[in-house]
Amino acid sequence: MCGIVGALAQRDVSSILLEGLRRLEYRGYDSAGLAIINQQKLERFRALGKVQQLTDRVPLDQAGKIGIAHTRWATHGKPSETNAHPHFSRDRIAVVHNGIIENYREIRENLLAAGYEFASETDTEVIAHLIESYYEDDLYAAVKQAVDQLRGAFSLGIIATGDSPALVACRRGSPLVVGVGIHENFIASDVSALLPVTNRFVYLDEGDFVVLNAEGYALYDSAGKPKELEITVSERTGDSTFKGNYRHFMQKEIHEQARAITDCLVGRIDTTTVLDSIFGSESEAVFTQLQNIQIVACGTSYHAGLVAKYWIEAILGISCQVEVASEFRYRKTVVPKHTLFVTLSQSGETADTLAALRNLSSDNYCGSLSICNVPESPLVRESSLVLMTRAGPEIGVASTKAFTTQLVSMLLLVISIGKLRNLNESRIASIVRELIELPRQIEQLLRLDAQIELIAEDFIDKQHALFLGRGEHYPIAMEGALKLKEISYIHAEAYPAGELKHGPLALVDSEMPVIVVTPNDELLEKLQSNMQEVKARGGKLYVFAHQGAKLDQSGDDVVVEMDCETSWVTPILSTIPLQLLSYHVAVLRGTDIDQPRNLAKSVTVE
Ligand code: AGP
Repeated sequence: MCGIVGALAQRDVSSILLEGLRRLEYRGYDSAGLAIINQQKLERFRALGKVQQLTDRVPLDQAGKIGIAHTRWATHGKPSETNAHPHFSRDRIAVVHNGIIENYREIRENLLAAGYEFASETDTEVIAHLIESYYEDDLYAAVKQAVDQLRGAFSLGIIATGDSPALVACRRGSPLVVGVGIHENFIASDVSALLPVTNRFVYLDEGDFVVLNAEGYALYDSAGKPKELEITVSERTGDSTFKGNYRHFMQKEIHEQARAITDCLVGRIDTTTVLDSIFGSESEAVFTQLQNIQIVACGTSYHAGLVAKYWIEAILGISCQVEVASEFRYRKTVVPKHTLFVTLSQSGETADTLAALRNLSSDNYCGSLSICNVPESPLVRESSLVLMTRAGPEIGVASTKAFTTQLVSMLLLVISIGKLRNLNESRIASIVRELIELPRQIEQLLRLDAQIELIAEDFIDKQHALFLGRGEHYPIAMEGALKLKEISYIHAEAYPAGELKHGPLALVDSEMPVIVVTPNDELLEKLQSNMQEVKARGGKLYVFAHQGAKLDQSGDDVVVEMDCETSWVTPILSTIPLQLLSYHVAVLRGTDIDQPRNLAKSVTVE
């Protein structure tokens, strides 16, 4: 969602800000803008569309040593140049904002009555005017007074004209980091924006303010008390945000999965088991007493949770519920005693998932575990146990390597719990062996790329597609459908294959491609019957068949043979060809693969 970058330096900052925005493009946005103070005057550039369009408008020699910039993902007011940030008040104050101001209507009424004029339809503009109404010569004091009146989850970056230039920022429910340079400092909603200028970061706590000025930076807590925070040196390099030889980030990330899974496993397993305490020193006590697991997540991460439920119940015999965070957070729940609360999230900053964690009130929870890809993200910082997926930065909005590493992490969780609860050692060793083999098998499946690229041609003009699966392959079918609709804009639905005749079969005709993954397991026969039901209605089947899965094939069926045996890791393997299919269909349809329309990478608002 919206991205913020800000800089105060001894050099001109417009190119730093534009590069920062370019690196935040993956978060998803519809317009971009930048404001700079040049010779005591605010100057602003905004553009609807891509950061490149904004860059084209900013003169190469644009002067100004303090500025803020923003990529906007519309919430209040349509995507347009006038709604794009930064928003100004009386040419003295400029504001960029990530998040939502819930009480903006009443503030707007008061400001209108006080004579302020509004140029946009956004909730953000009230912040600019409100700060202006308090601003004399201390920008921090004015921001603090204004922020104390705002309700919602947000982060802000503010600059103002005046005698002593300063940039003030605050974090209330939306992430913000301070980049610490040498005689120059920065802010951003994500470290990746600042990697070309620094690798030293201060992660603000909830409610914190930061003031950047000529002397350096100063931190204040939500009550306005000065505070200090440690500087973290990031090991990330700027290179991870480049595509290399790949055409799209999504393609690169699909092909990085063997490496990502290896990284996820390194130092966590030996040849027969999972090492102790990989979920943290307190995990042993929690895992020994837990009697139930509640998983909460959104989107692709939710699908990982659904697969994990099959593993947890089948391997451990422990009950497990999985729910999308936006539902869970507002529901009155019955929490069984000794429930472990697990969040799955690539970004670690998804608003609904975070709110679900923050709202936990029952004493029946014995701990909270975050499986996450972004260190220092709010979910990681606020959970009692943590396992990083180590997928590396995922830039494509469509989640790929984050999903498969989440699944690997969930298997590590199953084994870690099992170890403490007398799970048979040879069973543990056999799952570990499967995990060790996984990267090699994924490399092998990636060789299907060319074959799947050809199959993708069948989908160019399709409007709809159905994905079928049974057992733990039902969530994989859901993930396949989500990937296809997300990046190719083809309407796709997933069903448990047994549900077909309870409704969706009515949709099947020669125009409806039906995609099925067929593991060679005890449900294969049942799945075959469902496939026959499709064929009898003239539907065309696209089958991803595992080794040994004997099919009643007919000439029309498209069958891709997958060189993999059925095992616990099969759902992870089955994901690969579905990712490739969506990717190639989207390439052929010419969509914006890495930044699909209307979507954001980090969903930091409800
Ligand atoms: C995945 O392809 C999606 N872009 C989306 O569903 C995503 O998984 C969801 O928004 C959850 O994000 P998170 O994993 O960062 O919490």
